[in-house]
Amino acid sequence: MKKILMWALGILVAACILIQLKRPDQTNPPVNPAAVYTAHLSVPDDVKAIIGRACNDCHSNETTWPWYSNVAPVSWLVAGDVEQGRRHLNFSEWGTYKKARMIKKLSEIEGEVTDNSMPLQKYVKMHPEAALSDADRDRLSKWAIEEGNKLGLKQ
Ligand code: HEC
Repeated sequence: MKKILMWALGILVAACILIQLKRPDQTNPPVNPAAVYTAHLSVPDDVKAIIGRACNDCHSNETTWPWYSNVAPVSWLVAGDVEQGRRHLNFSEWGTYKKARMIKKLSEIEGEVTDNSMPLQKYVKMHPEAALSDADRDRLSKWAIEEGNKLGLKQ
């Protein structure tokens, strides 16, 4: 019995080591200053600060990768969220969006922030500084609508 347990433990340890070999892509693509959202929208400092602490890790090319993002299988999950997040909305590549997409994204930001869907809860658990107060949510959603209106968003 003891032998079987030792074997099982050995296999478990080996598996934990082996999965580390599969390293997800954790690079930050280069940032073109002309494409960053602040170059295209009017972004007051407080709004920029909220986006910086609560959204940028997943929705920009300026991700700060935490230490645990080097440890599989967590690394795969983190990299997956960042990849998905960037694909849906990338503040670093805002300038590459067509006007209709900009309007849609601003309206989605308002929706996600108002109904508490963003930032993702699991992220806030690991990054308490990313938690948004009601006032932060209100500020961010009003800003998104304001900017959307300037571009022609109809409500
Ligand atoms: C931990 C990573 C993470 C953080 C932090 C995060 N998001 Fe997201 N976001 C995602 C992922 C993944 C998706 C795509 C899948 C989904 O909708 O759940 C997404 C999707 C979105 C979308 C697009 C929804 C759609 O319908 O296409 C918007 C808008 C958005 N996020 C806004 C924000 C805002 C604003 C913040 C900051 C307040 C934020 N997110 C913080 C990961 C994140």
